[in-house]
Amino acid sequence: MKESERTVGFIDIHSHIIPAVDDGSKSLQMSLDMIETAYYDGIRTIVATPHFHPGKAKCSASKIRQNYELLKDNVKTLYPDIELLLGREVYCDYGAIEALEDGDELLTMFDSGYVLIEFSPGVEYSTMLNHVRRVVMLGYTPIIAHIERYRCIVEKSSRAEEIKNQGAVIQINAASVTGNGGFMLHSFVKKMIKHGIVDVIATDAHDTDIRAPHLSEAYLYVKKKFGADRARSLFIDRPHEIINEEEGDL
Ligand SMILES: [Fe+2]
Repeated sequence: MKESERTVGFIDIHSHIIPAVDDGSKSLQMSLDMIETAYYDGIRTIVATPHFHPGKAKCSASKIRQNYELLKDNVKTLYPDIELLLGREVYCDYGAIEALEDGDELLTMFDSGYVLIEFSPGVEYSTMLNHVRRVVMLGYTPIIAHIERYRCIVEKSSRAEEIKNQGAVIQINAASVTGNGGFMLHSFVKKMIKHGIVDVIATDAHDTDIRAPHLSEAYLYVKKKFGADRARSLFIDRPHEIINEEEGDL
């Protein structure tokens, strides 16, 4: 990327960057390498969102917190202008809905009213819609992780708008924007961005290799194809609102 094209200040709201708590970073060193990659990509705020499956979690909430604090301490010293926040990527099933009904704060993003939720790729649309409605009725704002990954949505794209209209925030992965998922998926993603369905583009980073934390390439693609305002909204402004918005708080 040319120096003149460098944009700094991206906000990544979906990242498996905490060491040894899920299928993302395997060690503190790997997490710091991911931070370095993110930093040179122009990312300055990262929400760490380890997978969390209420009732079936392989890693306890206290372990997640402990490893997050360890990473945060290191980041504070090495990259003082990077802000690290703690969230979760919650596997959304009946168990997760029950945990949210019980007011389990550990499921939310940075102690806000936002909950990043994912489903099985083959989830039935009626199940997804019902769960999203339940989450909204409980007073939370669901952020739908990588909506391009669900077959029921890609095969009928008007459903993405219906999910959004329930009050959900729609997130797409940066790699899908740059065409890594194949022609059909790329067409779907372009259509979603063009029609204003997508709210946020994030990395869903898991490592420093093929799932590394890059946003700049996708940002430049969106800027060229859909304009600077849309690009700024998806990578900076809307995620900034999410991490600062009073409305998102319970
Ligand atoms: Fe993820």
